[in-house]
Amino acid sequence: MYKNFFRPMLFALPPEAVHQGTLRLLRTAGKLQGIMKVLTRIYKPHPQSSKHLFGLEFLNQVGLAAGYDKDGEAVACLAALGFGHIEVGTVTPRPQPGNPKPRIFRLPEDKALINRMGFPGKGAEYVANQLSRLDKPPGLVLGVNLGKNKDTPLDEAVNDYLFLIEKFAPLADYLVINISSPNTVGLRQLQHQEYLGRLLEKADHQRKMSEGQFGKKLPLLVKLAPDLSDTELSQIVDTVLSIQIDGIIATNTTIARDGIHSPRAAETGGLSGQPLASRSLQVIQQIRRQASDDFPIFGVGGIHSPEDAEAKIKAGADLVQLYTGLIYQGPGLVKQIVEQLDSN
Ligand code: FNR
Repeated sequence: MYKNFFRPMLFALPPEAVHQGTLRLLRTAGKLQGIMKVLTRIYKPHPQSSKHLFGLEFLNQVGLAAGYDKDGEAVACLAALGFGHIEVGTVTPRPQPGNPKPRIFRLPEDKALINRMGFPGKGAEYVANQLSRLDKPPGLVLGVNLGKNKDTPLDEAVNDYLFLIEKFAPLADYLVINISSPNTVGLRQLQHQEYLGRLLEKADHQRKMSEGQFGKKLPLLVKLAPDLSDTELSQIVDTVLSIQIDGIIATNTTIARDGIHSPRAAETGGLSGQPLASRSLQVIQQIRRQASDDFPIFGVGGIHSPEDAEAKIKAGADLVQLYTGLIYQGPGLVKQIVEQLDSN
């Protein structure tokens, strides 16, 4: 139904207009009990097995990746689509417009997207307000993904993250330090040794202070790019493990264009979807080889089917996240994956 009916209609419109329109619909639907009941009846996976990571219970292993609900406006309705966790953001301290439009492109020949959004968003104050008013759906794990403002110099980036950790500590179940989006100039340099150790140490310190203040555990994860060399990745994982960061999200979008057929391939930005699947799988495998068996890894990148999700779990991921697969396969993908993973 989605692929034959809704997708052709949606794909006839500009990608960002569809995104904004869908988000508005979801936001409205989240306030209507009747619609929520119907959605839950259609999309709630059954059965589903829970997963325990860093003291949190995830109802199932499938989550919504960052970037879909940047301002935390549609969490209630998104939860009704069956996700065990939802990652809001990337949130920046201050509101910012992001890059000029158009900034999302479909590559249907490759089942992929290219985006160069550049963290458009309404800022931390607005998102915190949204989340504090949220009647959180029972069992949903809520993550908040954090990024620096475009005009914050790299040397001061750490202050943006510390501010955001403090701001979202009382509202989030886990937090993510995003240093891997390709669309904020210089952001990925924060993955380099020159910045990373100091950034993560300070973030960890702030997280511990907030844990004391709010009397709760606050898991802190870091989200990595797929475009790192094996040596760079190995050094990053060493640093993450030595500072006792709680987990890694692998991966963000790629700047590589290997094997892409679409004429849109030349657009600047991060590529997501099917062509990213094998590289993100390799990154997960390498992290798992280096870290202990119980170190949490969230696998994301090119999951368009239950088999893709199984491959990520087999490679060492504890949970998976989706974004582009939802655009190509529709929201029913969540339930399909959860139910197949449960049957294993
Ligand atoms: C993203 N992604 C993303 N990631 C992030 O950490 N912060 C963000 O703000 C965004 N924004 C964003 C916008 C758009 C339009 C897309 C398509 C993606 C990356 C996303 O969370 C995920 O890591 C990648 O897209 C790979 O997964 P998929 O899309 O191949 O399932």
